[in-house]
Amino acid sequence: MLEPALPEIALVGRSNVGKSSLLNALVGRRALARVSSTPGKTQHVNVFQLPTFYLIDLPGYGWARASATDRRSFRQLLETYLKRRERLAGIVWLLDIRHSPSLDDQEVHAVLVETGRPTLVALTKGDKLPQERRAKEALIRARELGMGIDGLVVTSTKTGDGIRDLAESVLAAVAAA
Ligand code: GTP
Ligand code: MG
Repeated sequence: MLEPALPEIALVGRSNVGKSSLLNALVGRRALARVSSTPGKTQHVNVFQLPTFYLIDLPGYGWARASATDRRSFRQLLETYLKRRERLAGIVWLLDIRHSPSLDDQEVHAVLVETGRPTLVALTKGDKLPQERRAKEALIRARELGMGIDGLVVTSTKTGDGIRDLAESVLAAVAAA
């Protein structure tokens, strides 16, 4: 158990999707969580304490070089965490704006839907697409997930796009906990 007992917000997503970068952007710090171009950088559950809640940086899933055993034990960890964690007030689920959800993403999506936890979808690396493609891809991602476009926020840790919106939604989830 974490002390003091505060609500938790967890960042969930494939390896390399930008979880640690987004955490740093949300907190307004450059290098709180370790960012790397090598997938699988975050290997532990890292906890960052903010005044009113915890931000949890989870290891990424779908890491190509992970062994089958590692994959299985990670999935177990994620599923148990999402289902049982009492203070979990919300999840920020990250998807790269440029790609359709992978099989791993789809499995995680099913768990998220099953747990019914409040989930914010962050479409990451928005700066990698020109403006008009960005809106188009966001619509496609929403359709693929069976969600309205309002449930998704396009983010970029390079330009800062979407970070404030996401931070506000995170704070609202914390307030509702
Ligand atoms: P793991 O810890 O391996 O699960 O990865 P992660 O999801 O924490 O990703 P991380 O934040 O380490 O970022 C992975 C790579 O993507 C790094 O090279 C980042 O600089 C890059 N990246 C993250 N966010 C953005 C973004 O908004 N735009 C661009 N262009 N690159 C980004
Ligand atoms: Mg990371």
